[in-house]
Formats: sequence, C-alpha cells, structure tokens
Amino acid sequence: MATVKATSVLRGANAVKVLLGIILGVLVFGLFMNLFIQELTRAIAASKEQVSSTKERSLKVQSELIARKDRESSGSPDEEEPRSSKDKVEEMESDDEDEDENKAPNSNLRRQLPKCLIVGFTNCWTMTLAGLLSLNPRIVTAEREMRYFTLNFQKGSEWYRSMMPLSEPNQITVERTPNYITSNSALDRIHEFNSSMKIIALVRDPIMRLMSTYSLHTRRKPDKPIFEHWCGVHVKTRNVLRYIDYASALQNAMARFTRKNVLVLSKEDLEVKPHTVLRSMEEFLGLEPTFSKDDFVYNKEEGATCFKTSLARFPEIKEALVPELDNRTGCLGSSDTRRSHPNIDPEFLEKLLALVKIHNGRLFNLINKKFDWTRPDDL
Ligand SMILES: *[C@@H]1O[C@H](CO)[C@@H](O)[C@H](O)[C@H]1NC(C)=O
Ligand SMILES: *[C@@H]1O[C@H](CO)[C@@H](O)[C@H](O)[C@H]1NC(C)=O
Repeated sequence: MATVKATSVLRGANAVKVLLGIILGVLVFGLFMNLFIQELTRAIAASKEQVSSTKERSLKVQSELIARKDRESSGSPDEEEPRSSKDKVEEMESDDEDEDENKAPNSNLRRQLPKCLIVGFTNCWTMTLAGLLSLNPRIVTAEREMRYFTLNFQKGSEWYRSMMPLSEPNQITVERTPNYITSNSALDRIHEFNSSMKIIALVRDPIMRLMSTYSLHTRRKPDKPIFEHWCGVHVKTRNVLRYIDYASALQNAMARFTRKNVLVLSKEDLEVKPHTVLRSMEEFLGLEPTFSKDDFVYNKEEGATCFKTSLARFPEIKEALVPELDNRTGCLGSSDTRRSHPNIDPEFLEKLLALVKIHNGRLFNLINKKFDWTRPDDL
C-alpha cells in the first residue's frame, strides 16, 4: 500500500517535472523566436537605411535647417505657407549635387537679400503682379509678405535673409509687402538698406479700390454699414483719402529714390495686357523677356490679351497666378469684374469723383503717365 502510494507520488512528481519542462521549453523557444524576429527586423531596417541614408542625410539636414529657420522666424501658424515650386526644385537640385561629395559643393545656391521690392498698394493685385514677375527665370520671389521694413525690422537683416528663397547668384530676389509705401519710416529704412533698391508700386482705379476695400472690410460683418457710412460723413475722411490718394505716398517714395528706380504700374493694365506689364518690369530690372508675343492671344470677350492655354508652361503660369488666372481662357481677372459692387448714392458719388479727379491729376503729373480710370457711367 505504502509502495503504491510512494510510486504514485513519485509518478505525480515526474508528471509535474515533465510539465514544468514543457512549459520552460515553450518559454525558452518563444524567447528565442522573439529575439530572432527582433534581430531579423533590425537587420532588414539597417540594410534599408544603409541604402537610403546617403541620399537622405543631406536632404534631412537641409530640410531640418529650413524647418528650424521657418519655426524661429514665423510668428503665427497662418504664415506657414507652402514654399514655391521653383524653390522646391532648387532644393532638390542642390541635394543631387550633395551626393557626390559630403560637403555641399553647391554653394552657388543661397539666400539673397531682395534687390527689388513690390511696395504697394494694398488691394491692388500685388500678389498677382509678383506671381507674374516670378515667371521670369531670373526672378525668385519671397512667398509671404515679410513686413520687414515695417513690423519685423528689429529682427535684423540676417532674419530677413533667412526668410528668402534659395537662388543662384544671377537671380534677383523680390519681396512684396503692400504697405511699405504708406509708411515713411519703412521708406527710410529701405533707403538705408539699399539706396539703389528697385521699387515697384501697383495702383488701380481709386473708386474701384475704395469699393473693393469696402467689400473686403465689411464682408463678414452682420451689421454691415452702407458704403457711404463706411467712408465717413464727408468724402474727405481718412478712410477715403487713404484709398484714393496714391500721389502722396508715391511722392514720399520718389523723394528718397531716383525716379528711374521707381516703377508705377496699374492693375487694369496687368489685367488686360499682362505681357506688356511683365515686359516693363523685366526692362526695369534689366532682364531678357520671358515670353514672346506668340505666347499670348487676344480674347475679344474679355477685352484682354491672355496666355495661350496650350503653352507647355501653362500649368506653371496657372500656379503662379492663382487665383486670378482663368484656366479656361488664360485671362486674368475675369473673377474680379464679376464681383458685385455697392450701389452708391449719386450725390455722394459725384463728390467722390470730384475728389478722385484731383488726386488722379496729382498722380498723373507725378508719374508722367495717365491711366484710363473711372468713367462714371460704368458704375
Ligand atoms: C541694391 O539694389 C540694386 C538694385 O536692385 C542692386 O543692383 C544692388 O546690388 C543692391 N545692393 C546691395 C548691396 O544689395
Ligand atoms: C481648371 O482648374 C480646375 C480647378 O483647379 C480644374 O478642375 C480644371 O480641370 C482646370 N481646367 C483646365 C482646362 O485646366
């Protein structure tokens, strides 16, 4: 009885041992499998990395540098706009050359301070003008309004440079901030920065600018004031003068810079003859023409000379001139004329037109050029 008991106890103990053994075996096997899989994935990852690391290293370093610079300098998140496609291409090109040598031999690509500024006026299509100018291969344009000579001056010129796109030595960097022209201190700073700075100012029909600014300022206001109230009780209020008097601001600019370094263009010309406007900017900057007459076609319906949509460069042109280029016609600005304008009290309009006439006269005298502006019957 005792032996039976003993053997069964023994057998029981053996069974436990075997069981433990099996469990241990499974655990050990599992552990080894786990290690093995980890090693394997690591090895695969390593080999992948080795293949791409040479390519990626320079790209990473560069993009991190750019990202850091952007982070340091951009005040608000809404300033984080995509970089231009021209810029992207340039960065990629520099990476390709980085592959040959570890150190960037491509030192001819760098950020250069602007040699030309589009200084105004607000709500006159300066963005479209900058887009048009950027179609010249010798031009690179800053993506955003840097407001360096107004709000960001204390950040210093190295900050300003760091915000500029990469460019080749023979390329000209252009920056656009449309309220430089209305600030005397900005004009002083620009003059001190470079007294030979090329200055481009874009103007438009003052009544149209006034109405367009009114629409823009009151767009989202539930208790929208009527146009006359927004202007003020009298026509000679600040709100009105600010938008119709180009001459005073231009006079301030011309008092500081040589006349040949100040180019005044009109939004209406930009709209109906972009080729002429681009050509005058190119001449102003001493550049060869980008387009020939054959690249444009006159569109009777629009009353404008338009880009041929069949051009190989058309997608690029479209991108540069968004949102004003109609991609069906290749014309600029058809969207703008379709926008509704406020109805103006005839008596108020008459006073406004009389005031505008005086300021237009001053402007035309100053720049020695006339623009075909407001005919009252158009309104
Ligand atoms: C100043 O601007 C002129 C005109 O764009 C340019 O030729 C010149 O190189 C600029 N000077 C400096 C120091 O950037
Ligand atoms: C015009 O642009 C719109 C929107 O970007 C696009 O859907 C359309 O295909 C374009 N048309 C042409 C002719 O390129």
